[in-house]
Formats: sequence, C-alpha cells, structure tokens
Amino acid sequence: MKGKMWDARFAKATDARVNDFNSSISFDWRMYHCDIAGSIAHATMLGECGIIDAGESEKIVAELRRIEADIDSGALAIDPEAEDIHMFIEAVLTERIGETGKRLHTARSRNDQVALDIRMYLKEQILAVKALVTSLLSAIETKASENIHTVMPGYTHLQRAQPLTFAHYILAYAQMFMRDIKRLDDVYARTNIMPLGSGALAATTYPINRHRVAELLGFDAVTENSIDGVSDRDFVIELANALSMLMMHMSRFSEEIILWCSSEFRFIELDDAYSTGSSIMPQKKNPDVAELVRGKTGRIYGDLTTLLTMMKGLPLAYNKDMQEDKEAIFDALDHTQLAVEVFTAMFATMRVNTQAMRRAAAQGFINATDCADYLVKRGMAFRDAYKVSGKLVAYCIDENTTLEELSLDTFRTFSDSFDEDVYDAIDLDNCVNRRTAYGGPSPDSVQHQIDLLHDFILQNA
Ligand code: ARG
Repeated sequence: MKGKMWDARFAKATDARVNDFNSSISFDWRMYHCDIAGSIAHATMLGECGIIDAGESEKIVAELRRIEADIDSGALAIDPEAEDIHMFIEAVLTERIGETGKRLHTARSRNDQVALDIRMYLKEQILAVKALVTSLLSAIETKASENIHTVMPGYTHLQRAQPLTFAHYILAYAQMFMRDIKRLDDVYARTNIMPLGSGALAATTYPINRHRVAELLGFDAVTENSIDGVSDRDFVIELANALSMLMMHMSRFSEEIILWCSSEFRFIELDDAYSTGSSIMPQKKNPDVAELVRGKTGRIYGDLTTLLTMMKGLPLAYNKDMQEDKEAIFDALDHTQLAVEVFTAMFATMRVNTQAMRRAAAQGFINATDCADYLVKRGMAFRDAYKVSGKLVAYCIDENTTLEELSLDTFRTFSDSFDEDVYDAIDLDNCVNRRTAYGGPSPDSVQHQIDLLHDFILQNA
C-alpha cells in the first residue's frame, strides 16, 4: 500500500512496529463481504439522496461488486500491509476507479463502518450457530425416541437416586439447548440494529437517509443515538455470553459422556470415528472429543472475559481498544461451532448400553422412595414410611441383597402394612411408568416432551 490516509496532517511516516501493532487486517479481512455490502448500501443511499452524483454512485457500486468477486475468486489478494479491511477495500476502489472512489467515504467514518460490519457479520454467524444447535437437538430427539423405556438410575451428588429413563435424561439437555437458541434469538434482535450514519460519533451534516440503508441491508431498525451507535459492543458481549452458556451445557454433557464410557459405568460406547487411542496403552479408547469440548469451554469464557474487561474502562465514544473485540468473538464463534458440530456427530453415533443402565438401576436401592410411598398410600405418615424403608435398605446392605429379592415375611418384620403388591410397587419399570406428573419420566410425559422438542425444531428449521 502507498502512503497513509492521514499523510496530509503528519510530518513523519508511521513507525513500522506501530503499523504492525495497529493493523487488524490479519483478522478483520473475514468481514470483507459485510464491508462491501455495507459500502454498496451506503453508496446507493448517497446517490439516491443526491449527496453524490447518481452516475458516480452506480460506478462505485459496480466496482465494489467486482472487488468482491475478485476477492472471492482469489484474483485479488488481501494486502497484509493494509491497516484494516475497510482501508484496503477503499484503497483498491480508488486505485481502480480514481476520483470517484474517493467519494465513497462521504458522510461516513470508519467508526460507524466497523460497527456496521461487525453487526452484519455477527448476524450471519448467529444464524449459523443456531442451525448447528438445531441439528444437535434433532440428534437428541432421535435418541430420546429410541429410549423412552430405557430405565437408568438418576443421580444426585453422583449417587444413585431415583429411576428414570435415558430419554428423560437427555431431554433435560434438550431444554438447555432450546434456551440457548432462544438466547441467540435475543442477541440477534439486539444485533439487528443499523449504526451507519452515526459518523465518527456526532452523526453528519449531510442529508443522509439511515432508514434506507437499514432497509437495503435488511436491518430491523436504526440506532437511536450516534454516540452509542459507534461505542456499543453490548451485542458482542451478549453473544459471547450466549456461546459461553452453550459451551457450559455441552461441557456438562461431555462430562457425563466421559463418565458413561468408563469401565465403571459402560452406559454408552463411542463410535470409533469419534474416539482416539493411546500411544502406549493398546487397550485404550479415549473420549477425546468430549474432553476437548469440556476443555474449550474455558477458552470461550476467556473470550467473554476479554470482551467485558476490554470495555469496562472505555470513555465514550470509539476507542482503538475496541478493535480487540474481533479476535475474541471470532475465536469464540470458531471454536463453539466446531465443538457443536463434532459433539453432535459423536452423540448421534454413540451406542446406548441399555443393559448396563438397567443393571445399575437394579442396584443402589433407587426404588427406596417408591417403597416408602407404598407405605404412605397404605396410610402411614411419610416420615415413618421413610424410616421403615431406610431400615430395609440397611438390612439389604448387610445381607448383600436388594429390596426386590426380600420375601414378604421379611418385609413384614419391618412393617405389617406390607402386602404382596409391594413387589409391583417397587418394580423398576413401574416406578418409572407411575411418575406421570407433568415433566416426569413416565413414557407419556416423555413423549409429550419429545413432541414439544419436535415442534421447536420445526420452528427453527
Ligand atoms: N480497525 C478498526 C477497528 O476494528 C476500525 C475502526 C478504526 N477507527 C479509527 N478511528 N481508528 O475497530
């Protein structure tokens, strides 16, 4: 690139190290589509409003389209020496069409230009993340439909607690991911506001039509205050937060998958394509994908912290610190998208070991609450029933047996309220099937959750 845009005011050239330090093109080049689309809308509006000549506006628009095609095809290489993508495209435009190219930046500043570009770029990216999370939800729907009757132990404190089904279990994660999508919709709405026309900070004296630019670019509204228009990065932080929550949910899920494929659980088996071996231990099949999802979650939190910290001391309006927003949010987007994609494939291909789940459910007295509830239904107060059931469990532990295996006589030595139908009450399948309360693990209730999930996926498809 030749001299700097601001050469007129400066007596000396910029120090080479400052050039490098200042430059953002190594990462903001990826917004070139948005920058060009924004400039096309701006030039169109300038022409329509008579701020520049209509013929010149058309010439600018046509050349910007060619520049975009040339970058797309590789015919035009992005100059790593340029300060940023905005300066680069304007410089190429001026090189190609001369004087007319210099009119593009009328009634515009790089401050509102970059605010526009990042909003446009993030809008696309939010939709891409939503599509990936929707695919994950579809994979959960499929697995849940296959496992409505797959009994497994539910845990609290990682101790076996009560019986439920694998479908019910993974549908809990579907709830989290549906909330993640709603959070992304929310961020989208606040990103979908057009800042161009804010100028450097105090708008402009030219008779621009901001609403026309918003309409051309498909924005819902225009920003209301020019100072805020160039200095607001809330939507970037909100997106980093939404991605952090999404990663946190996938990280919890990953932790479960890591536990489940251990020899101690064996609830699932990962497909070979989504596991890795050890360089020294031939028997190993490691859940690296799940571990890396868990590991990358910290990195996304780091990006969120970068953004919050970057903004916290900035006076109004634009400050160069804000250039740092891009690497952080791009990193969060890249790694989250990769994580959702690989996680979905890993989850969709894993095999569910229904027998191991049932075996685990049969041990650990997860029907002890149901045993107490049985006595309550026969007139005993819950606190007394709880004690009887607790004593039965202690007895079974001493005798190395289970509640199901006790004889009715033995039951009766603990309370004469027990009858033959106690076996029916503590049968694992019955314990699950009778939990018919809305939101519970009974097959009907789970089917209702699947139906709602199905509708949600259709709405977001
Ligand atoms: N590369 C800059 C950024 O990403 C563009 C805006 C520069 N504006 C300025 N006045 N220096 O924030």
